[in-house]
Amino acid sequence: MKILIKNGRVLDPKNGIDGVMDVYINGGVIERVDRNIRTRGTEEEVIDAKGLCVAPGFIDVHVHLREPGYEYKENIKTGTAAAVKGGFTTVICMANTNPVNDNKSVTEYIVKQAKKDGSCRVFPCGAITKGLKGEELSEIGEMYESGIVAISDDGKSVKNSQLLRKALEYVKLFEIPVISHCEDEDLSTGFVNEGRASVISGLDSIPTIAEEVIVKRDMAIAEYVRSRIHLTHLSTKGSIEAVREAKKRYGKITCDTCPHYFTLTDAATLGFDTHTKVNPPLRSHEDVEAIREGLRDGTIDIIATDHAPHEAASKDVEFNLASSGISGLETALGLSMGLFHDGVLDLIELVRKFTENPARVFKLPFGELTPGRAADVIVFDPYIEWTVDKNTFLSKGKNTPFHGWKIKGKNMITIVEGEIKYRAR
Ligand code: DOR
Ligand code: ZN
Repeated sequence: MKILIKNGRVLDPKNGIDGVMDVYINGGVIERVDRNIRTRGTEEEVIDAKGLCVAPGFIDVHVHLREPGYEYKENIKTGTAAAVKGGFTTVICMANTNPVNDNKSVTEYIVKQAKKDGSCRVFPCGAITKGLKGEELSEIGEMYESGIVAISDDGKSVKNSQLLRKALEYVKLFEIPVISHCEDEDLSTGFVNEGRASVISGLDSIPTIAEEVIVKRDMAIAEYVRSRIHLTHLSTKGSIEAVREAKKRYGKITCDTCPHYFTLTDAATLGFDTHTKVNPPLRSHEDVEAIREGLRDGTIDIIATDHAPHEAASKDVEFNLASSGISGLETALGLSMGLFHDGVLDLIELVRKFTENPARVFKLPFGELTPGRAADVIVFDPYIEWTVDKNTFLSKGKNTPFHGWKIKGKNMITIVEGEIKYRAR
């Protein structure tokens, strides 16, 4: 199939392109990116992207697709449908499934299901420890052979520092990073951020140091063994300051944050709406400002969603009993455009955090519009206003604190390997 995308503002950070151009796709790959491409007119589809942006398909390095085991929350089919609607053409899915993705048969299952049911590319993340129990390393080598691109016990930290050290040393063989969910479980016995909001609501709280002590420990161990570490869903000022300092000394540290951590504060939890319950918790205004500054100055490399779909019943309970997580794939692009509208990031830097940077950190040959590369392309409108309606989500997870919000910026078309997988109506 040949597709010509005309007159869009092409944003390709990897290749240093930001200008009005055409993109020509042929046989699943990018053929040309240039001004005024003249063709023989044999293309099946000509997309007029005037006034819109054209970018490499976004890469989400942190999603929960819930398959196998929790298909009532999400499955690969619905999760990847939500992904392409949101502008993502590649996702990395976490290992906290049932069974846990801690051996090659689960990894192979996910890869196979993704080929069959997936609207976009899916790369599994393997567990660091068997059953996420923190006791014994999982079958990392086998899983690597079957297609994992990282390991993580996401949902919790690896409490045993010796085990974490071994995992960090072991993955050097494969040059894949350890993704660290930074949370000291002994310090983390609550449900909302420790601060003004928790004092008012009276809910048990989680202090920022619960995250920061593990950020510092994990970076220290990674540096000690000269391995790569990626810190995920960072939420506090202290974490960003620690990463900023550590990066000056040691180059193999990267990190991400999520749209809810630069959009909402813990004040959102005051109404006891369980859709605001997420782990790590929404933090103070000061933390949110520090996250935005970390995005601006490059301390934070990547924006990921931590797409954590849950069934309504697990949110329709008291705050302390509710599941943690936000269904994020269908609002991430729009919420992140807020960083552009607020002057935090220009469009090329914003796109870089969804494309070039995640591709580099996880060694994926995507996230760029280089001729010869797979044609994973999106067309988005950074200005269009729309109202979030959870009932229109393609994800099974309708759990969003953004229902009813007016946001500016929306994905319009998603192309995966030269095939149109989503088009906004
Ligand atoms: O809020 C969260 N939900 N944080 C996590 O770390 C895990 C995730 C989930 O799996 O639901
Ligand atoms: Zn996590």
